[in-house]
Amino acid sequence: MDITFLLNGETVELRAVSPTETLLDWLRERRGLTGTKEGCNEGDCGACTVMVLSEAKPRPLWRALNACILFLPQLHHRALRTVEGISGPDGALHPVQQAMIDHHGAQCGFCTPGFVVAMAAAHANGRRDFNDALAGNLCRCTGYAPIIRAAEAATAAPVPAWIAEDAEKLRRFFLPEISSGGPEGRGAESPPPAGDGFLPADLDALAAWYAENPDATLIGGATDVGLWVTKALRDLPKPCFLAHLPELRRIEETPDGLRIGAGVTLNALREAIAPLHPDFAELIRRYGSDQVRGAATIGGNIANGSPIGDGPPALIALGADLHLRRGDARRSMPLEDFFLDYGKQDRAPGEFVEAVTIPRQTDRLKCYKLSKRFDQDISAVCGCFSITVEDGRVTAARIAFGGMAATPRRACAVETALTGQDWCEEAIRAAQAAFDRDFQPIDDMRASARYRMEAGRAMLMRYFLEDGATAPTRVLEVRA
Ligand SMILES: Cc1cc2nc3c(=O)[nH]c(=O)nc-3n(C[C@H](O)[C@H](O)[C@H](O)COP(=O)(O)OP(=O)(O)OC[C@H]3O[C@@H](n4cnc5c(N)ncnc54)[C@H](O)[C@@H]3O)c2cc1C
Ligand code: FES
Ligand code: FES
Repeated sequence: MDITFLLNGETVELRAVSPTETLLDWLRERRGLTGTKEGCNEGDCGACTVMVLSEAKPRPLWRALNACILFLPQLHHRALRTVEGISGPDGALHPVQQAMIDHHGAQCGFCTPGFVVAMAAAHANGRRDFNDALAGNLCRCTGYAPIIRAAEAATAAPVPAWIAEDAEKLRRFFLPEISSGGPEGRGAESPPPAGDGFLPADLDALAAWYAENPDATLIGGATDVGLWVTKALRDLPKPCFLAHLPELRRIEETPDGLRIGAGVTLNALREAIAPLHPDFAELIRRYGSDQVRGAATIGGNIANGSPIGDGPPALIALGADLHLRRGDARRSMPLEDFFLDYGKQDRAPGEFVEAVTIPRQTDRLKCYKLSKRFDQDISAVCGCFSITVEDGRVTAARIAFGGMAATPRRACAVETALTGQDWCEEAIRAAQAAFDRDFQPIDDMRASARYRMEAGRAMLMRYFLEDGATAPTRVLEVRA
């Protein structure tokens, strides 16, 4: 397949690229740009961080991404900067590079390039939450304090012209080719030859082609699929890329609530959901790293059916519906019904996740994530609670867990035990006893079955103790 993008300010046109070649391999092995390092090759360490611009309007939005799990077609119509392109064409240092020198932040050659690029991406976006922005860059040897000090010091300097110019170039070079007016970049015009990858031009083209090619591998952000290639060394039949499609990247406010396209990244979802459900936004903040959240899509997080995915428990507790499409046929279902069994979802061949909708409501969602490490770790148990209390009595409860069963699942027996009861400690203790009827968790490296059960019960009590005194008394719309 053929792709075009900007590399450190220069246009690159690639013909007949292998659709599952990673950007990291291409940079290092074909372009000799070895500043981008390989540490873990699975999205964990940030040594391979690059910065990618995909939105030029209304303001440029740079994403720090892990090149080791980014496939080349995901760069089509994007602007890419590697560590070699952070300084100016005349060798002038970027403000974050100068600050690293001034504050003694530079460390070894493996982690420093990734830190510098993540800092430059944060700088270009005007961010100041550096503990978050740099949580995906690991150093096991020294400390982070001088690096954070350097990142803070660099905020005073403006974005260098050579970085700012990429947004203008993106508009100038690629916008004229974009038929539907979005700044996101468009895919190929026609279906691919057998064995090639596919960047559909629009959602209808994707729907028609996938219905005819149900053996294809859909790829959202590739934060799961990337590892199938780099770690499991799998060949992917007919890789088909989705996340560039503007129709899938939209978040719309509807009269009933929010409609979130399947290609919306976790970082974009976090920003949109924060004013409505701050606890959900905080749960997403602890999801992978900034690099992972900048690539991972909510569609991929749902479609992979993982029992420990963080999106589904929160969405189920909110009463979300899932919207699927096959060709021109669409159907919807409560999200919890999508997960049939371990590795088995209610998705027909050729059918894909188009969107998820969250109903409008005024009550508060609480989310608790337990993992071995606070940041950048998959959940051992994730519990999400939306309990409505009116006049001191529970009138509705939606409680969902990840990590407690083979799928993300509602705690129906616990909900029943609570509903209609007075909102008091006695009722919570009675409901804790109902966990046995809902779940028989497994033992694995993340947690024992007993730990998971105790953690789930404790989360319910924590919800009561933390939120009980301020539990909402009125809810506009909650689907029980
Ligand atoms: C370092 C690291 C940390 C992580 N931390 C977390 C974490 O804290 N919490 C968490 O929940 N997950 C975590 N993950 C897992 C991963 O990020 C998520 O599962 C992610 O949301 C997957 O989304 P994606 O767009 O990258 O999916 P992809 O990898 O592109 O695809 C995943 C699966 O979904 C399918 N798919 C994708 N889009 C669609 C669609 N629209 N319709 C139908 N099928 C589709 C693909 O074919 C594939 O089977 C982590 C991963 C890494 C590498
Ligand atoms: S090499 Fe570790 S995140 Fe890419
Ligand atoms: S990994 Fe570079 S100094 Fe620790």
